[in-house]
Amino acid sequence: MTILVTGGAGFIGSNFIFYWLDKHPGDRVVCLDKLTYAGSLSTLKSVMDRPDFRFVKGDICDKGLVLGLFREERPEYVINFAAESHVDRSITGPEVFLQSNYIGTAVLLEACRECGVGRYHQVSTDEVYGDLPLDRPDLFFTEDTPLHTSSPYSASKAAADLLVQSYVRTYGISATISRCSNNYGPCQFPEKFIPLMVINALNDEPLPVYGDGLNVRDWLFVEDHCRAIELILQKGRIGEIYNVGGHNEWRNIDVVKLILAKLGKPESLIRYVEDRKGHDRRYAIDPGKICDELGWLPETGFEDGLGWTLRWYLDNRPWWGDIVSGEYREYYEMMYGGR
Ligand code: NAD
Ligand code: TYD
Repeated sequence: MTILVTGGAGFIGSNFIFYWLDKHPGDRVVCLDKLTYAGSLSTLKSVMDRPDFRFVKGDICDKGLVLGLFREERPEYVINFAAESHVDRSITGPEVFLQSNYIGTAVLLEACRECGVGRYHQVSTDEVYGDLPLDRPDLFFTEDTPLHTSSPYSASKAAADLLVQSYVRTYGISATISRCSNNYGPCQFPEKFIPLMVINALNDEPLPVYGDGLNVRDWLFVEDHCRAIELILQKGRIGEIYNVGGHNEWRNIDVVKLILAKLGKPESLIRYVEDRKGHDRRYAIDPGKICDELGWLPETGFEDGLGWTLRWYLDNRPWWGDIVSGEYREYYEMMYGGR
């Protein structure tokens, strides 16, 4: 079987490719990625020469290219990870988010309609639900929680989800959607919270904590997310949404302190900086549906997963060293300089 993975040169997509090739010998994986600032072939180095892997550089918004690839490869599964994914960038420049996250999804769905696929899976996010108050720990996002987006990023992802559902209903496309909480693990781009804190700590640079640091995120090890998507592809019901999260809520400041402790660095590196605009307070997933229906459970505890992640960043300095010495420096200065 051939599967098409879009956005596979990014964080979760690359981990999914490694996971799939490992667990499904005999399958062929085709990766379509535009190689934006967030995607890199160095991430896929270990699989590039495999006969069961093909990399295609291209934009999911490019109708001709996408259709040509569908016709050529006839993928059984299409898993769409391709997206602009950073909330802060969506606040300073929303347009590309609407383009890649919404229009890109529309192009993929049209290709599914035209060529037919066994399954289209949309990798979405819990951010489509907005946020929960800090003083109501009894509340969680379920699949029935109304959409209530806070950033152009989450709005573009919610819009794409609605389009996927419309293609199921109107055209009978065999599609599913997963909405996962915050992921962490190897190969995450340095702009995101955990790698940013790890890399700054390793470089003895200040760790910028937004606002009061009390915002809560529900952290899931990336491989647990990959396994959830695998189960949805194999056993999930068409047209359904599955929330994915591990009941692993942490305040940002506590994650930062844990990282510093694990790296043997002082808390004096912590800097409280101006808050993000529209900053969501708390994300927390109720994963009851995927647990009950598909038997999914997270397998990686936070202490273990964070330990492996720190080890990966310690062992792979050239991977992130190349990134943080390039155009990322300008981004960092723009985002954090004088904040
Ligand atoms: P990422 O930014 O690390 O990677 C995105 C990848 O998509 C990059 O390789 C980039 O080059 C590629 N891409 C972007 N626009 C493209 C386009 N128009 N055409 C082709 N390729 C394009 O993102 P990530 O963290 O791996 O997230 C992957 C998906 O998972 C996204 O859809 C995101 O919304 C979703 N998600 C992420 C998290 C998280 O915590 N990171 C949580 C839940 C859901
Ligand atoms: P992020 O990794 O951007 O994910 P998301 O906003 O999609 O949840 O950020 C996770 C949390 O960390 C979020 O509450 C914002 C906060 N944060 C900081 O405090 N400092 C930072 O430099 C970054 C990037 C994030």
